[in-house]
This record gives sequence, structure tokens and C-alpha cells, in this order.
Amino acid sequence: MLTITSASQITALSREARRSGQRLGFVPTMGALHQGHISLVRTARSRSDLTVVSIFVNPKQFGPNEDFGKYPRALEADSELLVNEKVDYLFTPSVEEMYPAGACTWVTVEGISDRLDGRSRPGHFRGVTTVVAKLFNIVQPDLAFFGQKDAAQAAIIRQMVADLNFDLDIVVCPIVREPDGLAMSSRNVYLDAAQRKQATVLNRALMRVQMLADRGETDAGRLAAAGREVMAEEPSVRPDYFEVVDPDSLQPVSNILRGALVAVAAYVGSTRLIDNILLYGKSNPSIPHLGF
Ligand code: PAJ
Repeated sequence: MLTITSASQITALSREARRSGQRLGFVPTMGALHQGHISLVRTARSRSDLTVVSIFVNPKQFGPNEDFGKYPRALEADSELLVNEKVDYLFTPSVEEMYPAGACTWVTVEGISDRLDGRSRPGHFRGVTTVVAKLFNIVQPDLAFFGQKDAAQAAIIRQMVADLNFDLDIVVCPIVREPDGLAMSSRNVYLDAAQRKQATVLNRALMRVQMLADRGETDAGRLAAAGREVMAEEPSVRPDYFEVVDPDSLQPVSNILRGALVAVAAYVGSTRLIDNILLYGKSNPSIPHLGF
């Protein structure tokens, strides 16, 4: 694996690979890698000739009171994991490399960026779309891999790729969970033992919704209410939202007949966790743009 910190160098390598007919798969990350990230890397490897991973803790997607300063950084361990996964190039730019003095352009996907996490984290998604657009231009992949864990992010990036004619395909991969159902996240390291147990309530609430949907409940309001009820069983966990929405527009739906995204966000102590499930409607047994 070659580790590269210069944007122009990874662009040159990518161009060379594509010229020789290789298909380039790209997995953007912020590091502190876990099995969720690794699952994306493995899918990328299986579908590409050359795999590029980026690790960049992007300051522009953190709010002023968020955890940019303490976000876990583990470049050495990450690097070792990626060598074992036979990744070809690791791109680890500095903040100055990504945002040279004077940079003042933002990429904003309007409307949809203000829903779900965008509502509670103003400016977060414009930071994400700005860095991902830059990374796409720098790495120039044929395929880019994202996790369903960040469902709103995946929807917004799909919209950006369509709107700005990026010449690449987005592949969304399933959520990887701990054995007790907690979705893997770099932020789980913030949880102490008691909080780690409390955190499982997010998944329990989603499982209740899944069960009711499997039994034939199609009303989005009743499904969301049932999920919120389970969340309330863990009073130390402070819910942010629990919503049933359209997986593309992130707008609330009134029923799940055409499929729906059930998304939850909650604070466990000061740690913000998110999770979601996709419900497949009777008239929409699969959601075609997802890679699973
Ligand atoms: P990060 O949180 O490091 O996540 C990188 C990718 O891993 C994202 O596509 C995310 O959805 C996916 N991922 C995280 N946890 C997962 C899990 N448990 N199962 C499956 N996939 C999972 O998301 C970001 O970084 C940043 O916003 C980024 C896109 C890199 C832009 O800065």
C-alpha cells in the first residue's frame, strides 16, 4: 500500500490507472477504522481493480461545539488494517492540502441537507458535500462506496452526484453491527460501560418498528410512535429525532407502502449516535440504487 498526502500525486496515479483500463474504487473515511469501514473496503476491492481509501477528519463538517478536536485519530492502526485488506493507495491529506488559504467554495445540496441530521447539525452536510466533491475530483474514481449507516449522507451524496454530473457510481453498503445490535461507529469509543448498554436502545426501537411492519402495520405515524415509545424506556438516552421518511428526499411519508427509511438519532451522554433501517414496501420490494 502506498500512502499519499499530496492531492496532485493521487490524481496523477489515478489517471494513470484509468488510462491502463483499471476500474478504480474509492472509500472516503475519517479514520478510526472499524469493521463497518472494512466492509466497505472489501466490497470496493471485490468490485474494482484498484482500491483507494482516504482518511481525513474534515473540519468543515463539524459544528463549533462538536467533537472535531477529540475525534479519534489512529493513523498507524488504520494503516495496518488497510495493508491487511490489500488496499492499493491510502490518501491522507493535511487540512492545508485540502483547504489551502483562500479556499472559499462550498458545495451545497439544498433542502435535503436541512433534514434529519442536517436539522440538528446546521452546516454539517455542506461540509460533507464540499469535501466529498473535492475528494471525487482529486481521486477520480469509477465507483465510490458509502455506508447505509449514514443514510442521510448517502442520499445527499447521490443527489449531488446526479446534480453535478459526477462521472462515477455510488454504491451503498449495509450497516455492520456489534453482536448486540449497536451500529458500529468511530464515536462508540466515547461510551463508558453503562452508556454502551444504554446505546442498544436505538437498535431495539428500530427492531420494534421492523416487527410491526412485518406484521402488516403500514402507517408511518403509528410506526414512529412505537419506536419513540421504546426509546423512552431508556430515559438517560436523549432522543434527537425518530422519523419515517422517503429514502431519497428524506421527507416524512404517511405510510410505508412504497418503502421507507426509519431513522433515529439520540444523545447518550454527550455522544450523538445514529441508526436506521429500510422498510421495503409491498409495491417496492427492493430499493434499486442501494448496493444490497
Ligand atoms: P466516517 O464516519 O469515517 O464513515 C466513512 C464511511 O463508513 C461512511 O460511508 C459511513 O457510512 C461508513 N460506515 C460507518 N459506520 C458504518 C457501519 N457500522 N456499517 C457500514 N458502514 C459504515 O462518513 C464519513 O466518515 C464522512 O462524512 C466522509 C464521507 C468521509 C466525509 O468526510
